[in-house]
Amino acid sequence: MSKFPIIVFEGIEGSGKTTHINFVYKYFNKKNKKFIKFREPGGSKNSEKIRKILLNKNSNFNNKTDLLLMLGSRSENIEKIIKKNYKKKIIIIDRFIDSTIAYQHYGMGIDLKIIKSINHFLLNKISPDFTFLNIVNKKNMLTRLKKRKNLNRYDKFDYNFYSRVQKGFIKLASKNRNKYKIIDSNNEIKINKEIIFEKINRLLK
Ligand code: TMP
Repeated sequence: MSKFPIIVFEGIEGSGKTTHINFVYKYFNKKNKKFIKFREPGGSKNSEKIRKILLNKNSNFNNKTDLLLMLGSRSENIEKIIKKNYKKKIIIIDRFIDSTIAYQHYGMGIDLKIIKSINHFLLNKISPDFTFLNIVNKKNMLTRLKKRKNLNRYDKFDYNFYSRVQKGFIKLASKNRNKYKIIDSNNEIKINKEIIFEKINRLLK
């Protein structure tokens, strides 16, 4: 493992992804680690512009347009953030290529080959070193979503959609177990925090 890996957090809405990333963010700050953290869609200035229109409640793009906007946002991040910091800093990403496969392929039915091919075109040899996949059951997911004050366009699918997406994520994780850790966010937060820190420390050894 590189001293400066790319570590990704994935998972459906309400899966605890953001809470878990924030633990790592604070931990790295405390330890004075050289790292950067960003989210997708979003991240670089241009990608945040794309995020705004993509997730706006009043937007009504078709699925293919969504795919291209997600990838457009990624393209900007690769050029503006990733290439600059690759192997120089730890890169933490809140969603990355697996989200595109899970949401646009398993959720929306877009051809997997097309997604993989554009991702490859954008990333070339760069790929995540390790992924934490956060999972959640139906009851907790719906309860957590209900508590959100501002729901965006992607917070409003029916549960079947999120269920397909989560199954897709799990499929990706099970294909390459040594590069993924599944974090069950139905469990106690404190326990998950320990599991994540333990794994992170092992990755950075
Ligand atoms: P979030 O930042 O609150 O997680 O919301 C971003 C939404 O965008 C989330 O529902 C997942 C979705 N998404 C995709 O559908 N495809 C992608 O490639 C990425 C990065 C995110």
